[in-house]
Amino acid sequence: MAARARHNLTVLESETALARALADLVVGEATAALAARGRFAIALAGGSTPKAAYTLLGREYVQALDWTRVRFFFGDERCVAPTDEQSNYRTARETLLGPLSIVDAHVFRMHGEIDPAHAARAYADVLRHELPAADDAVPILDLVLLGMGPDGHTASLFPGTDPHTDDAELVRAPYVATVASYRLTLTPRALNAGRIVAIATAGAAKAAALHAVFDGATDPTTHPIRVLAPRSGDLRWLVDRAAMADLEARR
Ligand code: 6PG
Repeated sequence: MAARARHNLTVLESETALARALADLVVGEATAALAARGRFAIALAGGSTPKAAYTLLGREYVQALDWTRVRFFFGDERCVAPTDEQSNYRTARETLLGPLSIVDAHVFRMHGEIDPAHAARAYADVLRHELPAADDAVPILDLVLLGMGPDGHTASLFPGTDPHTDDAELVRAPYVATVASYRLTLTPRALNAGRIVAIATAGAAKAAALHAVFDGATDPTTHPIRVLAPRSGDLRWLVDRAAMADLEARR
């Protein structure tokens, strides 16, 4: 990974242990942020890996902190209705936001149901309006949760196109051929403005990509997750033993 990133790698024995570690990371960083700054803004990841952590948070961490002071954003979204089973928002609503009784006013979803380009522009405006900004006016999220696909994609930055395309923007609406649909995604510039970027990766299907990212791939076009290099330097990987298989076999 980029030398400048103060990345750290936590290996968990199982996907269940990873879910617990991710839930604890969210609560720990939220508690610290609320104490330090009185606010905590988190961008939720889509996909299945974080779902177990969301479910844990919704079931066992209701009293862990004052969730009314937390604001919820998204790193990416499928271009579907919020009620669609493919919707990252729907997954978060069912597993996390509903069980924690988060009011709609504290949840800033990407509008996958409208024209993608319009939704991207609108979400960039939401980020600018709702978040504090760095000197260069890039909005700052306190914690950005992400996953990684077997092909090295993250958020909806997929291989085959330069993930830095449109990096002057905060949000993009690429057509993703591998999933034959449009997506909405934060750009690397927006992602890397996060104070903490945490990637949760589990399962043997991710082992080859993880090995490539840590021990080989330098081209973000083939492994877009390579673009992650938070300005803060705080990049954290939570991976399970199965996803580490190739890395551990080769070391
Ligand atoms: C999405 C996610 C995507 C996801 C990876 C890993 O909308 O699907 O943002 O980037 O994090 O595809 O997904 P899994 O956790 O399901 O393997």
